[in-house]
Amino acid sequence: MMPAASPVSSVLPDSSDSPVPKAGDRAHCMRTAALAALGEIDPPTKAAAARALHSAVLEGRMTWATDLELDEPAGLPGRPARPELVEPRKLGRRSMQSPQGRAVLLHALAHIEFNAINLALDAVWRFAGMPAAFYSDWLKVAAEEAYHFSLLSARLAEYGHAYGDFPAHDGLWDMCERTRDDVLARMALVPRTLEARGLDASPPIRARLLQAGDQASAAILDVILRDEIGHVLIGNRWFRHLCDEDSLDPHETYTRLADQYHAPKLRGPFNFEARRDAGFDDAELAALAAWAELDVQKAAPPAAQD
Ligand SMILES: [Fe+2]
Ligand SMILES: [Fe+2]
Repeated sequence: MMPAASPVSSVLPDSSDSPVPKAGDRAHCMRTAALAALGEIDPPTKAAAARALHSAVLEGRMTWATDLELDEPAGLPGRPARPELVEPRKLGRRSMQSPQGRAVLLHALAHIEFNAINLALDAVWRFAGMPAAFYSDWLKVAAEEAYHFSLLSARLAEYGHAYGDFPAHDGLWDMCERTRDDVLARMALVPRTLEARGLDASPPIRARLLQAGDQASAAILDVILRDEIGHVLIGNRWFRHLCDEDSLDPHETYTRLADQYHAPKLRGPFNFEARRDAGFDDAELAALAAWAELDVQKAAPPAAQD
C-alpha cells in the first residue's frame, strides 16, 4: 500500500522561508504541496491550504518542478466522513420557498465546490511535463474554488447548517478518476464539460433564489459564475494547446473523447453568453444552438392534425 499523503502543514511554506526558491527546488514545489492539500481531509483546512498555496506562488515563495513524476498516495482525495455520499437519484429536490430547501441547495453547491477544489489540485500535481503556466492556472482555480466553498459554508451557517449535514452526490470525483491518465481528456471533460454545465445551471438557480427573496445567496452565485467563466476559459486554453501540439482538430477530438469517456449528454438551455466569454468558438456555440433547438422540438406537444 502506498503511504498516505503528507500532512499539508509539512509542505506549505511559512513566511520566513526564502523569498526566491530556485527552479526545480522540491522542498518548495507547489505540485508536491498541491498533492498534500488534495490529501487533506478537513474541508476548511483544505480550502485554506489551497488559498495559502496560491498566495505563496504569487509572492514567489514557491516554485514548481514541471517534470517531477509524483507517486499517487492512498486516500485521494482527502474528504471527511460526512457528508454521506449517495447515488444522485436518492437526493430529493426541495422547494426553494422553504429555508430548509434553500439550505439543502446551498449544501449541494458547497459539495460541488469542495469537489472542484479537489479537481483543480489534482490537475496541478498529476500531469507532469506541462508548461509552468498550466500549474499556476490550475492552482488559481483551486484557490477560487476554495473561496466559493468558504462563501457557501458561511451562508449555510446563517441557515444553521454546516457542510456535512445533508447527503451528497457520489459521482463528482468519477470523471477525475476516469481521466487520470490523459490530460487532454481531463481538459475536455472536466472544465469544458462539467464546469461548463455549471455556467448553464447558474442563471435558473439564481432566479429561483431571488424569487424566494434570498438576495445574499444569489449574490454568491454571481461571484461563482464570474469565476467559473475563467475556469472554463483555462480549460479551453489548455485543451486547444494540447490539440495544437498533436495537430488534432479540437472539435473532432472533443466529440471522440466525450464518446470514449461517456461524458454526460449536453442539455439546454445553454448560457451562450457565458460560454462565449469562456472561450467556446462560433462552431461550438452553433452546435449547442442546434442541440437546444432539438430539445425544444422534443419537448413541444405534437402538432395538431388537420
Ligand atoms: Fe467554483
Ligand atoms: Fe470552477
